[in-house]
Amino acid sequence: MNQVLTSRSALEMSATHSKDALASHQTVRTPDPDAHPSRLRADGVSVFYGDKQALFDVSIDIPEKSVSALIGPSGCGKSTFLRCINRMNDTIEGCKVTGDITLDGQNLYDGNLDVVELRARIGMVFQKPNPFPKSIFENVAYGPKIHGLARNKTDLEEIVVTSLQKAGLFEEVKDRLHSPGTGLSGGQQQRLCIARAMAVGPEVILMDEPCSALDPIATAIIEELIDELRSNYTIVIVTHSMQQAARVSQKTAFFHLGKLIEEGPTEAIFTNPREKRTQDYITGRIG
Ligand SMILES: Nc1ncnc2c1ncn2[C@@H]1O[C@H](COP(=O)(O)OP(=O)(O)OP(=O)(O)O)[C@@H](O)[C@H]1O
Ligand SMILES: [Mg+2]
Repeated sequence: MNQVLTSRSALEMSATHSKDALASHQTVRTPDPDAHPSRLRADGVSVFYGDKQALFDVSIDIPEKSVSALIGPSGCGKSTFLRCINRMNDTIEGCKVTGDITLDGQNLYDGNLDVVELRARIGMVFQKPNPFPKSIFENVAYGPKIHGLARNKTDLEEIVVTSLQKAGLFEEVKDRLHSPGTGLSGGQQQRLCIARAMAVGPEVILMDEPCSALDPIATAIIEELIDELRSNYTIVIVTHSMQQAARVSQKTAFFHLGKLIEEGPTEAIFTNPREKRTQDYITGRIG
């Protein structure tokens, strides 16, 4: 049954998609002359869960100090790719990653690399808010404490307050910093997780559908925040919202069935996609 489906979709693909892209499964790339330099790079990344291959030979440059959006239908491998970047896939049994991912030329899969330190440099915000079972203050203070980022209590308080402010949460929680983080609303919990990621001064922030649990007002706050953060951070965001990708990102990468089909400046991807599958997805025909 599966084989029939696979061969049928292969036939459909060959009928509708550019021959060049199909022949070598090459990603269609539109260069962006205005893009910031790329310090984060993936080269030929494939991911396997046991025998099942989830990502196929993905190569992409992620420009610094800008927002890159990963889009594509459910199950196409967006979260899998995002998790490769800070080695979260290491925590999944049976998951194997091949290929190279480098930050400033350093191989992130180097056996000698300190993974805890890596995850401070490359922070992550998940789809489902996951605050620690600690107070609001302690949720944000935890990272700076274990990484020795504060010299004293005043320093630590300042980091906590600034991080909460950056996440657009401080005003709502300033009177209950010592109450449990898990007692906040879903949207507030997500902003707490963003504050927690920012508190350790990361260079890269990975966000996996960070707004899917938020109301439109909280979403707008987070989108504004993402826009502000990009002057200092490199951000990679997975989103199912085309509007969100168009609003917040400068670069967009479209994944389909584990392959990076097309990437380029967000405006080009949304107004003039070169691959039919990209066009079908952004116009709602697949997904
Ligand atoms: N822990 C896992 N074990 C086995 N297979 C997995 C695991 N995580 C993901 N997969 C499989 O890998 C493929 C890609 O999944 P992934 O979660 O990366 O997709 P996604 O694009 O993030 O989807 P969504 O938009 O639904 O979040 C899917 O076929 C999925 O079933
Ligand atoms: Mg996902």
